[in-house]
Amino acid sequence: MSNQRPRIVLVGAGGYGRLYVETMAQRDYGADLAAICDIDPHLADRIPVIREQSIPIYPSLEAFFANDTADLAVLVSPVHFHTDMVLLCLAHGLNVLCEKPLCLTTQEAETMRTAAQKAGRFLSIGYQIDYRRDVLALKQDILAGRFGAPKRIAVYHGFRRGANYYARNDWAGHITCHGREVFDSPFTNACAHHFQMLTFLLGPTMRTACDITGVQAELYRGNPNVENYDVAALRFKIAGDTPILYYTAHPIRTECWGPVGVMEFEKATITYTGEKPVFHGVMADGTPFDYDAVAPGGDMQKLVDAITATVTGEPPICGVEADLPHIHAVRLVQQNPITPIRPELVEQVEQDGDYFYFVKNLEETLADCARHWALPGELGIKLG
Ligand SMILES: NC(=O)c1ccc[n+]([C@@H]2O[C@H](COP(=O)([O-])OP(=O)(O)OC[C@H]3O[C@@H](n4cnc5c(N)ncnc54)[C@H](O)[C@@H]3O)[C@@H](O)[C@H]2O)c1
Repeated sequence: MSNQRPRIVLVGAGGYGRLYVETMAQRDYGADLAAICDIDPHLADRIPVIREQSIPIYPSLEAFFANDTADLAVLVSPVHFHTDMVLLCLAHGLNVLCEKPLCLTTQEAETMRTAAQKAGRFLSIGYQIDYRRDVLALKQDILAGRFGAPKRIAVYHGFRRGANYYARNDWAGHITCHGREVFDSPFTNACAHHFQMLTFLLGPTMRTACDITGVQAELYRGNPNVENYDVAALRFKIAGDTPILYYTAHPIRTECWGPVGVMEFEKATITYTGEKPVFHGVMADGTPFDYDAVAPGGDMQKLVDAITATVTGEPPICGVEADLPHIHAVRLVQQNPITPIRPELVEQVEQDGDYFYFVKNLEETLADCARHWALPGELGIKLG
C-alpha cells in the first residue's frame, strides 16, 4: 500500500452493499471508496451518492482490474460469485472482506484460505456480530472456563419475508441459480447470523468456531412459490454431544421474530435477546452478570476492522475458520427432505404493498418447541 489510506473496491452495491456505500459517504473511515463493480447499469440512478462523489462503476472485477487496482475488496455480491471473486482479488494482491456466507462448500473455503495465506493477504467474513466487543468478551470468558462446558443451547430467530424480497433478484429462495448452488434459505442467509454466532462463541480458539458433528432437521415450505425451505427446526450436535437447537422461518406474521436464546453451561445459564445480542447470565450460585459495560463497537465494525487490518497487516477476527462450521451445517441441512406446510395452516395476506404467506401460529409453535428442547414432530405437531 502506497500510503496509509487504503483504496477500496466494492463489488455488488445495489442490495446490502448500498449500506457500505452510504456508510462510507457519511463518515471518513480512513479509506477511500475508489470504485464499484456491479452488473446493474442503473445503479447510479438508484444510489445518488455514487454520482455526487464521482465514484466510477465497472461492470465486472475484470474490467476494474484492467484499469485500476485497490488495497481492499469488499464483496457484497450474491453467494454463488464469492469464490471466483475472492480468488481473483487475492490473485491481484488485495485483502478481502467478503459478505456471509463465504461459499457453500468447505473445499472452496479451504481453497480460499490457502490462497489468502499464499498471497499474504487476509480474507475476513461479514458476520457483524463476531466483531462486537461484548460478544468477544463473552467468548473470552467461555474460553477461560468461567462457565464450564456447554450443556445445551436453543435459539429462535426469524424475519418476515414476502413477494418483494423474493422478487428482488434471481436467487432468493432458490436451491440453484443458473446451475450454481445457492441454497438460499433463512438458515443459509438472512437468519444465519445467530447460528454462526453460537458456533463462534463455542469455538476452541478466539478465531475459530466449533465443529458440527450431526444434525436432525425438520424443513418445511410455507410459501409455495419458494423453491427451497423457508421454515427450519434444527438440532445440531457439537463435540461432547451438546445439542444446539435452532429455529428459523420467513412465512411469519412478526416482522422480526427474536432472536431469543438460552445457553446452558455447567456453571451458568446465559439468556440473550436482540439482533444486536444483549446477554444476561446467572451463575449456578445465583450471582448475575452481563456484558452491558463493554462498548460493542460500531454497527460497521467489520469494515472498520478490515480497513485497520489493511494498514496494520493483522487479520480481522472473523476469517474463514469462523465460517467453516456454518458452511458445513448448511450442506448437512440441505440434504434433508422439504415438506410443504399443510395448506389449511397457510394464510395469504396483502400488506404494506407486499404479499405474504403466513403459517398460522408458527412463532408460538416454534418458541414452544424451543422451550421443550424439541423438534415439532417430537411434540406431535404436524406442520406438513
Ligand atoms: N451481513 C448482513 O447483515 C447481510 C445482509 C444482507 C445481505 N448480506 C449478504 O450480502 C450478499 C449480497 O446480498 P444482497 O441481498 O445484497 O443481494 P442482492 O441480489 O439483493 O444484491 C446484489 C448486488 O450485487 C450485484 N451483482 C449481482 N451479480 C453481480 C456480479 N456478477 N458482479 C457484480 N455485481 C453483481 C447486483 O446487481 C446487486 O446490486 C450476500 O452474500 C448476502 O448474504 C449480508
